[in-house]
Amino acid sequence: MRRNTNGERSHVPVLLAETLEGLRVKKDGTYLDGTYGRGGHARAVLEKLGPDGRLLVMDRDPDAILDAERELGADSRVAIRHAAFAGLADWEETAGGLDGVLFDLGVSSPQLDEPARGFSFQADGPLDMRMDPTRGTSAADWLAGAGEAEIADVLWRLGEERMSRRIARAIVAARGTAPIGNGPLTTTRQLADLVAKTIGHRERNKHPATRTFQALRIHVNDELGQLEQGLEAAVRRLKPGGRLAVISFHSLEDRAVKQFIRGEEAPRVRRGLPPPEAALSPLVAVGKAIFASDAETDANPRARSAVLRIAEKRS
Ligand SMILES: C[S@@+](CC[C@H](N)C(=O)[O-])C[C@H]1O[C@@H](n2cnc3c(N)ncnc32)[C@H](O)[C@@H]1O
Repeated sequence: MRRNTNGERSHVPVLLAETLEGLRVKKDGTYLDGTYGRGGHARAVLEKLGPDGRLLVMDRDPDAILDAERELGADSRVAIRHAAFAGLADWEETAGGLDGVLFDLGVSSPQLDEPARGFSFQADGPLDMRMDPTRGTSAADWLAGAGEAEIADVLWRLGEERMSRRIARAIVAARGTAPIGNGPLTTTRQLADLVAKTIGHRERNKHPATRTFQALRIHVNDELGQLEQGLEAAVRRLKPGGRLAVISFHSLEDRAVKQFIRGEEAPRVRRGLPPPEAALSPLVAVGKAIFASDAETDANPRARSAVLRIAEKRS
């Protein structure tokens, strides 16, 4: 098991060779990794850069940024920023244009492995799930205040949970005061046990709370909103001929990336006006979606749901 210099179990980067090939890293280029994590992809890009190359790394997780500073902070070719990638165009380091942008979406292994972050139903911890715990609303606070229909909608849309209504009803009943409920859910174990008790074990090798946790994580971190804004900002900052590489782990994310590359934005038609002409997408897809090989998924089960898409900005 690979560990970083801090002794922490590290994150195995997925589709690494395919991502590097897709980004077509130039020695003197400027590249942005919007999802540093534990730097698996970032370090590989840096190894391909010469003395005039530049690597910009972002992550919304303060622990990831501490790791970046520890591992890459001494390299003068590297700039590091604690921020969500939706705001990448606001970073003055990107103003000169980018030759490549990478988003490796979702959560890192250290985030999942640390019970205190509240991402995992396998260990007990506070029900938090924020990638950036310094801002926003934790999963526990959101669940304490959201309406039953709102909770069901999130579980259905973002977790594709067929039992969404039943789970939402159980959450609202449980958060009521005694004798009906025990007050707000505050720990991952409470939520995981409640979901298991409510819907039972329906799928082999899958904890019943898997979909619920996934949906809450995506919601609490506004991951789809971040992706949409991040893609728009990346296109604004990419130089003509610059490359975009996005690794998704969820069908909703991959669909959003595919549609964005094709320029298939939902048309905003104003009443009384003819629909706007379909605009030419500023991106061209490079090849088809790329999936991990059997060898990679055998070695790293996380890679099983990974989809990589590459696109190039038109000249
Ligand atoms: C799958 S991990 C990236 C792993 C990384 N490629 C590596 O090899 O170590 C995803 C990382 O992206 C970060 N992240 C997810 N969404 C983000 C966003 N909208 N803005 C900035 N960072 C984000 C998470 O905090 C996490 O550290």
